[in-house]
Amino acid sequence: MGRFSFGFLIIFAFLMFSDEFIENGIASSVTYDSKALVIDGQRRILFSGSIHYPRTTPEMWPEIIRKSKEGGLDVIETYVFWNYHEPEKGQYYFEGRFDLVKFVKVVQEAGLYVHLRIGPYACAEWNYGGFPMWLHFIPGIQFRTTNRQFQEAMESFLTKIVNLMKDENLFASQGGPIILAQIENEYGNVEWAYGIGGALYVKWAASTAVALNTSVPWVMCSQEDAPDPIINTCNGFYCDTFTPNSPTKPKIWTEGYTGWFLSFGYAIPYRPVEDLAFSVARFFETGGTFQNYYMYFGGTNFGRTAGGPLIATSYDYDAPLDEYGFLRQPKWNHLRDLHSSIKLCEKYLVNADPTYISFGTNLEGHIYNDSAGCAAFLANIDHTSDANVSFNGDTYFLPAWSVSILPDCKKVIFNTAKVVSQKTIGDSSHEHKVSSQLSLASTSWEWYLEEVGTSNNYSFTAPGLLEQINTTKDASDYLWYSTSINVKEEKEVYVHIKSLGHAALLFVNKELSGLGYGNHDDASFTIDQLITLDQGNNSLEILSMMIGLQNYGPWFDIVPAGIYSVIVDGFMQSVHDISSGVWTYQVGTDGEHLELDKLKQENSPLWASGSKLPTNQTLIWYKTSFTAPKGAGPLALNLASMGKGQAWVNGQSIGRYWPAYLSPATGCTESCDYRGTYDSNKCLKGCGQPAQTLYHIPRSWVNPGQNLLVLHEEIGGDPSKITVVTKTGQEICAQVSELDPPPVGSWKPSADTMSKHVTPSIRLSCEQGWRINSVSFASFGNPKGQCGKFSHGTCNAEGVIPIVQKECLGHESCSVAVSSLKFGDPCPGLTKSLAVEAVCSE
Ligand SMILES: *[C@@H]1O[C@H](CO)[C@@H](O)[C@H](O)[C@H]1NC(C)=O
Ligand SMILES: *[C@@H]1O[C@H](CO)[C@@H](O)[C@H](O)[C@H]1NC(C)=O
Ligand SMILES: *[C@@H]1O[C@H](CO)[C@@H](O)[C@H](O)[C@H]1NC(C)=O
Ligand SMILES: *[C@@H]1O[C@H](CO)[C@@H](O)[C@H](O)[C@H]1NC(C)=O
Ligand SMILES: *[C@@H]1O[C@H](CO)[C@@H](O)[C@H](O)[C@H]1NC(C)=O
Ligand SMILES: *[C@@H]1O[C@H](CO)[C@@H](O)[C@H](O)[C@H]1NC(C)=O
Ligand SMILES: *[C@@H]1O[C@H](CO)[C@@H](O)[C@H](O)[C@H]1NC(C)=O
Repeated sequence: MGRFSFGFLIIFAFLMFSDEFIENGIASSVTYDSKALVIDGQRRILFSGSIHYPRTTPEMWPEIIRKSKEGGLDVIETYVFWNYHEPEKGQYYFEGRFDLVKFVKVVQEAGLYVHLRIGPYACAEWNYGGFPMWLHFIPGIQFRTTNRQFQEAMESFLTKIVNLMKDENLFASQGGPIILAQIENEYGNVEWAYGIGGALYVKWAASTAVALNTSVPWVMCSQEDAPDPIINTCNGFYCDTFTPNSPTKPKIWTEGYTGWFLSFGYAIPYRPVEDLAFSVARFFETGGTFQNYYMYFGGTNFGRTAGGPLIATSYDYDAPLDEYGFLRQPKWNHLRDLHSSIKLCEKYLVNADPTYISFGTNLEGHIYNDSAGCAAFLANIDHTSDANVSFNGDTYFLPAWSVSILPDCKKVIFNTAKVVSQKTIGDSSHEHKVSSQLSLASTSWEWYLEEVGTSNNYSFTAPGLLEQINTTKDASDYLWYSTSINVKEEKEVYVHIKSLGHAALLFVNKELSGLGYGNHDDASFTIDQLITLDQGNNSLEILSMMIGLQNYGPWFDIVPAGIYSVIVDGFMQSVHDISSGVWTYQVGTDGEHLELDKLKQENSPLWASGSKLPTNQTLIWYKTSFTAPKGAGPLALNLASMGKGQAWVNGQSIGRYWPAYLSPATGCTESCDYRGTYDSNKCLKGCGQPAQTLYHIPRSWVNPGQNLLVLHEEIGGDPSKITVVTKTGQEICAQVSELDPPPVGSWKPSADTMSKHVTPSIRLSCEQGWRINSVSFASFGNPKGQCGKFSHGTCNAEGVIPIVQKECLGHESCSVAVSSLKFGDPCPGLTKSLAVEAVCSE
């Protein structure tokens, strides 16, 4: 072998093990030690994000994953949704949004790793925690404990999924992207309720997983007693104080909440990025090496996939990528900068043991210093007081509740509370100026008035009030409970109805007479109604409705629902409990049996039309068609004028809607203080409003011609006020001061004598191919106000707008240095900042 080829081999070997090669999402061996996951012999710092494949469309997967990678993620995490993969025992489904293999391969193609949380319990605010309904009807079964029937079914599904992945060579040892797997899920939170059976189940689940021989490590989240070699991991808003149950295991955070889920009837939770970044920085500061955002992209609960009770259709989660796949700014950008900053410290974090330094009350530092170099995290964990700390010969200003990152123990590259990223004006929702609204007022609507009560075709009778889930088997949200009351003369009586959940309509002689509903925290409710009975026979019919099956808590799988007590007060001069009488039942509504949501019924003669569109009408189906607004982006249906129901576009369910259910009027904070410990009730918006008015229609579900829209309205609404919305651009803004750190990407160690002083800059960028088409505000000096409402201060450089325009107009993105060298110095001695507002459009 000649010299040349020998050298070539060395270069080849170098490429094989250089970072660039590793970041390709290809690995062959994955192990762990006390510090980190070890991939092909190297300890790694890994950022991960949850993306649930059925919560968006396969057409969107590559785009969402690309944006995740750009945001600095290394790993995509997902649950596996058993109830959709095995809808009937032994019958499997892996198509469309449920094509798990394709999803894993899309992640692989993007060069990212996968953490597969097989469970099979999924939680995730997903219907029935991801368990198939048929499981419930296996005689003698008990879920999630030592129970032969359950364990057999669970093992069989686990094996199915593992073999599916193996057959496609998707585990790391096979050259695939899966580096980590999960068995069970947050069982430690409920284990107490299962007694000795629970403890034995944990051991069984662990050994069953290991025996599947995936060659990648398994985790159990929120499971202190996870047996070796399973890694117990942390779920929570903060995980810096977490330690695994053995010194041989690394500190892993499987669910760091980027926000919180939304329920009908509740205000919208959000989590300020300063606090989220703080929690992540604290985790890595204190020895963590793998962190996952739950959710990085939340998406949409299409169809009846939402868990319960009363989980909303939007699963936006205030995630860095919003429900529609747009970047949520400044969250996405700020976290990306955080990830880059921590990655600059990677080799010290995985090798050195941190030295803890106290700088005073609530002021601490962790220094990772070894022969290779030094990285430091300086933290102020006080809720209110800013501070200066002296470290390594310098003084550092630390705002309250913030962490500064110094990749060379000298220069601060990032502070979690200092947001210099671009923001989106308004919300990242569709409700702002740069959107197009298509009104459906003048389109021709048709409708179908649904039969009230049971019909002979589908009804059956039974003594007493039946439990709803056992009766419907979740084939429908609806169960009719019907009976009749015979009185000798007209009279007024009180009806008292008690329900375990989730909502119900009362009809007396086919007229709507009452409405009741619970909420996410307590699904039970009562209807107490004064009604008038006619002489003779009166029908009393209750439409009981479910809004997602329970998905969380001990024994959640046997939480019942439906009507359990009906008492008539004043009937036959006494209080009469008619609960145990004979009732007539019907699973599903009339319109469901007619399959009015399906494309095949589009031209059915069942649909009525006329000059007067019925509005404010209970139990009605509406149908129209619309031409989708032009563009490539996602669409939304504004259903603010509707009551409660479900909507379909071209036969695809876009989910349940319930804008008539307003959230409590109080408890919201428009500008939530990020400082101090966060919880899911701390930062809420939209008080006194519907939880959700916009409903996502994926672009791939519409075609260029006419699109069929069908609505099943239960309580009354006005479909003529519905609009189809799409974004036509974005309004963006940013403000950066002369003293802010320069962009993370331009960072050089201070020891590097070649490094010049790098000025901070404003970075603006548009999505979806839009370009910056106007600069509506620009000021260098001391501009006042907040993004979207900037105004000039007392100090103002002249001619700023033309300079910004020159660098930005017509570009998808631009970067403008924040410096007097560029704009001149209008007020020497004062710290100046540059504020810009711009519009992206076609
Ligand atoms: C586990 O995998 C290894 C190599 O991948 C193989 O040699 C072994 O037979 C497998 N064991 C089982 C039980 O499948
Ligand atoms: C890092 O370690 C070196 C060698 O022990 C020491 O000289 C230096 O002061 C340390 N740096 C910090 C910031 O602690
Ligand atoms: C930190 O130091 C700066 C500069 O000396 C000073 O202006 C500021 O007031 C100090 N802040 C605190 C909280 O001590
Ligand atoms: C009930 O069944 C009959 C006979 O199959 C059918 O003609 C009728 O349309 C059905 N009614 C409903 C409400 O489905
Ligand atoms: C529902 O059905 C299951 C299985 O048949 C049974 O064990 C359970 O007791 C029933 N629950 C209720 C509330 O009727
Ligand atoms: C009252 O109506 C119900 C349901 O239609 C029927 O089953 C029942 O026989 C009727 N009773 C009388 C007394 O007419
Ligand atoms: C809708 O109908 C209900 C009762 O049928 C009535 O109380 C309510 O005022 C109506 N609302 C509108 C907006 O017409």
